[in-house]
Amino acid sequence: MAGPDADRVSAEFAPALIAWQQRHGRHELPWQKTRDPYAVWLSEIMLQQTQVATVLPYYRRFLERFPTVAALAAATEDEVLALWSGLGYYSRGRNLHRAAGLVIAEHGGRFPKTPEALMALPGIGRSTAAAIFVFAFGGRAAILDGNVKRVLARLRGIEGYPGEAAVAARLWRDAEALLPQTNLVAYTQGLMDLGATVCTRRRPRCGDCPASRLCAALATDRVSALPTPRPRKALPQRRTMMLVLQRAGEILLEKRPPAGIWGGLWCFPEEDADADPVTACVRRYGARVVSGATLPVVAHGFTHFRLDILPQTVTVTDWPRRAEEPGRLWMSPEDALQAALPAPVRGIVERLIVQGKTA
Ligand code: ADE
Repeated sequence: MAGPDADRVSAEFAPALIAWQQRHGRHELPWQKTRDPYAVWLSEIMLQQTQVATVLPYYRRFLERFPTVAALAAATEDEVLALWSGLGYYSRGRNLHRAAGLVIAEHGGRFPKTPEALMALPGIGRSTAAAIFVFAFGGRAAILDGNVKRVLARLRGIEGYPGEAAVAARLWRDAEALLPQTNLVAYTQGLMDLGATVCTRRRPRCGDCPASRLCAALATDRVSALPTPRPRKALPQRRTMMLVLQRAGEILLEKRPPAGIWGGLWCFPEEDADADPVTACVRRYGARVVSGATLPVVAHGFTHFRLDILPQTVTVTDWPRRAEEPGRLWMSPEDALQAALPAPVRGIVERLIVQGKTA
């Protein structure tokens, strides 16, 4: 467990990181050019579990369409999720919309200015609240997102999976102990930049690190072993059939219930993987259909399980009026791409478009 002395690390880490951030860190990210709490909050939510390069176009489109928290609160959840489509982790988009409503309804349209009050809003955890507090309000608080957990686990030589409460608690204590008194913006951005560009999960560049002389993992040759990975449990494997109903060049999509996987997104109807698709269409819709093609399996990973999707096309020859319902729409594949679709459904629709062009 040895490594540089804790007092020395506390005294020297922040100044070294701040000087490095000013010289080598990122300065041109669009959310660094504003202190508008709405724009800062939006960026921090989008950047949860998602890389900067992926976020950039979404951030720009989102601010264009919803320039203020009031504009976002006035939108429908469907509009918000459509713009979110492709970023993944859709609960973030739903929470964003709910939080905007609460900022309007309970805070008079202004973001609350303390980490505690920020954390009371949906989708804002302790680290995100701290980042907003620092970047938008000039406050002093510690962040600890996934990248920062890696940086600190290495710096302080902390063993154990950071997803475990005791390990996380130790990391939070260290995150707070390392905070400087001033220059919190450069310090916080520096932690993020170091984690994203130098102290990376694979192939860290310790030769370029401003904290290499303070790093317990480097001193004890444990850089590649830390942070301790999640204990490996085989994830359960599930299978599902998606019915790709086709009629006059259109496909059928259904809006999923608000809770659960892909809540509120538009999806192909799902059936048991071993079901007979024709029988399923008769039972579900009273429709007459002929069986089409079985498209290639789409594998999708969730946090807690893996899903194999078996897309099965069927051509509808008779669609009864009584099968029409709100939340069930026929649309062209091109229009479907404008809707809030889960990534694998988007992939299937794109495949249909390509096939349609080559057929
Ligand atoms: N990851 C989380 N927040 C970030 C930010 N403000 N800049 C860059 N990467 C981030």
